[in-house]
Amino acid sequence: MRHKILSDGAKELSYEIREIVKKGDQLRKLGLKLYWENIGDPIQKNNEVPLWMREIVSELTMDEKSYSYCHSKGILSTREFLAAQTNEKGGSQITSEDILFFNGLGDAIAKVYQFINQNLRVIGPSPAYSTHSSAEAAHANSEPITYKLDPNNHWYPDLDDLYNKVKYNKNIIGILIINPDNPTGMVYPLETLHRIVEIAKEFNLMLISDEIYLNITYNGAKAHSLAEVIGDVPGLAMKGISKELPWPGSRCGWMEFYNREQHQDFSKFCSAMENAKMIEVCSTTLPQLAIPKIMGDPRFKPYREAMNQKIGKRSKYIAEILGQLPELQFNETYGAFYNTIIFKEGVLNERQTLKIENHTMQKMVESWIKPGMNLDQRFVYYLLGSKGICVVPISSFCSDLKGFRVTLLEENEETLVHIFTTLKDALREYLSSAQ
Ligand SMILES: Cc1ncc(COP(=O)(O)O)c(C=O)c1O
Repeated sequence: MRHKILSDGAKELSYEIREIVKKGDQLRKLGLKLYWENIGDPIQKNNEVPLWMREIVSELTMDEKSYSYCHSKGILSTREFLAAQTNEKGGSQITSEDILFFNGLGDAIAKVYQFINQNLRVIGPSPAYSTHSSAEAAHANSEPITYKLDPNNHWYPDLDDLYNKVKYNKNIIGILIINPDNPTGMVYPLETLHRIVEIAKEFNLMLISDEIYLNITYNGAKAHSLAEVIGDVPGLAMKGISKELPWPGSRCGWMEFYNREQHQDFSKFCSAMENAKMIEVCSTTLPQLAIPKIMGDPRFKPYREAMNQKIGKRSKYIAEILGQLPELQFNETYGAFYNTIIFKEGVLNERQTLKIENHTMQKMVESWIKPGMNLDQRFVYYLLGSKGICVVPISSFCSDLKGFRVTLLEENEETLVHIFTTLKDALREYLSSAQ
């Protein structure tokens, strides 16, 4: 080629949550039964969308409007419905003009970093949800900049770390919050959110809050939205229906812009994203039509509460099984549907193994193990080959910690029991195989 085609930032685009599936598939072809604990798709984990929701969607398929393009920012009546929901919280007040639809939050995340000046950075949490950290790093042609979530303090953000990084890196122009958090299941306490808003105000930053799990909390927790705490700081929240309904295949999510009028530069940034959407024409129409019908239905709130209760029960259950292993650092979760479990310092080494009965599978797993590779990834491969349980190593979430992420989604209780007791036994076997 005349010139190198690929940008330097392209190497930042990796997504272990799906990469690991390629490995799992190779083993599945050899006859191994797989338990997919890698991805947050409730439908894949036997969650049934209630009949009344399907009926709403089914009726919409008979409506001609569902097949057409819609307004480039999104369907007006849906934006009005969502603006009213946010305004009810009594914080930042928005109109339908402050809402912009995307083809899933994945699309919104790709766009939000794309239009930031290449030298400028958004600092995000670590462990990091890789869709954010990869897209941000790719825009900057550099590694992600992160603040620590602290496993010794319920995975809450280390606010001193955040403050210092913001203070000494003059190129940081935004702070990312994921609340409730993926991959830790942590819910940001209200006072933490207030402090982050204060930091943003002190250094003239914008705030980005991914709230795709905002209404998925349990065991006594409640998540507060950015709109409630933002005051007059510029910021945006990202919301969607992939997890709450759940309808991940709809590819539908949106941004809400706060305090756009007061901040000219921020407003220009929002307009750039609106213009980009206009060039694309619009986002998916049918799910937008379904949103007010489903979320405005009196059955929605009790449905969501019942689902949250079930996730909370599973969270407790997993805590009972894995919480007592002395080699692990375990935090209970209160939101979203993941748990990040950390290996204590020094418990992993390069000699540990799990028995893999099938010789071909054993050879395959051994071919994946490379000297010097992250020790949690090594465990994840052995677990996959030996027990068919597919989890994601925490080192792939921009973290120096070693551990793995599981989901709290398995609806079938018997399968859930099987997965987590097998995982516990595998952990014991692996950790004691070479001390
Ligand atoms: C924190 C977070 N944000 C965004 C997304 C992407 O959601 P969507 O399905 O709307 O693209 C996910 C998906 O797992 C997520 O966990």
